[in-house]
Amino acid sequence: MKASAPGKLNVTLACGAPDERGYHPLRTVFMAVDLREEVAIAPAPAWSVRTRMLSETGQELALPQELLELPTNANLAVKAAKAVLREAGIESAAALTITKRVPVAGGMAGGSADAAAAIVATAATFGVKGDWQQLARTLGADVPFALAGNAALGTVYGDHLFPVPACRRHWVFACANGAGLSTPTVFKRFDQLPRPTHPSWVLPATSLRPLEGQLGEALIDPDPRRLAGLMFNDLQAAAVAERGALAEVIEAATSAGALCAQVSGSGPTVVALAPDGESGRRIAAKLQKLDSVARAIVTQGPALGARIEGK
Ligand code: C5P
Repeated sequence: MKASAPGKLNVTLACGAPDERGYHPLRTVFMAVDLREEVAIAPAPAWSVRTRMLSETGQELALPQELLELPTNANLAVKAAKAVLREAGIESAAALTITKRVPVAGGMAGGSADAAAAIVATAATFGVKGDWQQLARTLGADVPFALAGNAALGTVYGDHLFPVPACRRHWVFACANGAGLSTPTVFKRFDQLPRPTHPSWVLPATSLRPLEGQLGEALIDPDPRRLAGLMFNDLQAAAVAERGALAEVIEAATSAGALCAQVSGSGPTVVALAPDGESGRRIAAKLQKLDSVARAIVTQGPALGARIEGK
């Protein structure tokens, strides 16, 4: 069985002070995009993973070193498949084939999408039924959203979700050249910088209150400019402090016509909201010329969450 799950961006991301576990409370609006990871799974005598990476036009891309070096047992998709089987009391191993389209270690939750697709594919392959949100939380803070897809407000650590309606829009992702940024490193840097202050509509990060007010209205406003005016990412300053070239990419995206450009998640990918598809392609072409950008991708979102793709 094969399943797919989407990469994501954070339209807004409010981050609070770390708790006693060192985890940061988040209040974030996630949006899933059309870049999808696929995980095929089949029962096998031993655990194995084969991974390939495709561009948005279907071209084979080289796998980054960090993926080549990843031991099978450390792969989040394998951990997810194992967790489903453990919960169902099934003793089996499986062979996984992962097709990646979400840039690696970029702040777009590609690894979390692999895990979400693996949960759905494993459950279907072994005939197990369940509500997988709780299990997803144990694998990583972004996994529940990769399962759910569409657009949602994430509270607590971003892993408790309230679905929100949102218009589909054109998004440009500029993937940074060189290595990814480690999420813990960016969170540590965040702790060293002055804490962000927020406008009144950003509630305390731990609040379980559903999204309301101007951000909710802007998400369903067909005019993207209103949403652009409300986008922000508290982790941006920390990501830019770690990787100075990101400031140049953000600046280049806005001068090329993006309505808003910001670091995606904990970076180093930059995401830009385009006025429409054609301007999106123009913005991507300009960003592609920067030395600090490996590839620029135009895509759309919201997109569906994890789902079966056939056998
Ligand atoms: O949840 P995930 O495994 O993706 O998180 C990776 C690391 O990022 C955590 O170990 C933690 O250091 C940091 N993190 C955090 N606060 C969050 C999410 C992640 O500090 N809400």
